[in-house]
Amino acid sequence: MATAANPSAVPATTPVGTAATATAARTHAATVPSPTAAPRSAPAGRLTVAGPATPRMQQLIADIRAAAGRGLDPGTTARLVADRLAPHLGPDDLLTPEQRLGDPARYRQHLVHAEADGSFSVVALVWLPGQQTPIHDHVAWCVAGVHRGQESELRYRLVPDGPTARLEFTEAAVSPQGSVAAFAPPGDIHLVRNAGPGTALSIHVYGADIARLTTSIRRTYHLPAGPGPAIGGM
Ligand SMILES: [Fe+2]
Repeated sequence: MATAANPSAVPATTPVGTAATATAARTHAATVPSPTAAPRSAPAGRLTVAGPATPRMQQLIADIRAAAGRGLDPGTTARLVADRLAPHLGPDDLLTPEQRLGDPARYRQHLVHAEADGSFSVVALVWLPGQQTPIHDHVAWCVAGVHRGQESELRYRLVPDGPTARLEFTEAAVSPQGSVAAFAPPGDIHLVRNAGPGTALSIHVYGADIARLTTSIRRTYHLPAGPGPAIGGM
């Protein structure tokens, strides 16, 4: 598995790699795809601007700024940011109590930081049990680290289907606390959900100005998807 020290070893497809400190902890689910099931659509989570960043978050933002400011390609930048994020996952002083609040209706996104030049943004996501994203891809590179609980992920690829296209399920993965994943488009189509019994918190860093865009999602997919696991959520 590639690390930031050897980024060229990973093809420029998605996911582009994972933080070296977290790769071993990332496990692939043994879910057996159902031949007929397709995931149910879910709305994107509400985005709200969070209050001031904690001192630990300010340090993380400075670390991300140094990595993103090197002007490297998206995949390499994402891997560098993943390495900066991993050590900050877990401690109680990363987020304020308000930044850990969820929403009973859908997963919640707290915009913690948007860099002044628009080069990156940091978002704290709160997932109550059963909450999930729609199937989507992203406007820019993305790094996702699990701060509390665990995230489950279903990955897809877009394949031609006559005059249109359909989604083909490719992989299911479970990311436990402390794991970090780095992505860069294209080929970054996925659905993320909290399949655990408790609240999950994750820190996502996007190579885009989420304050201006209000979302990291480039497109949501409502195409036929299968074969894949049967899931439901909100
Ligand atoms: Fe995503």
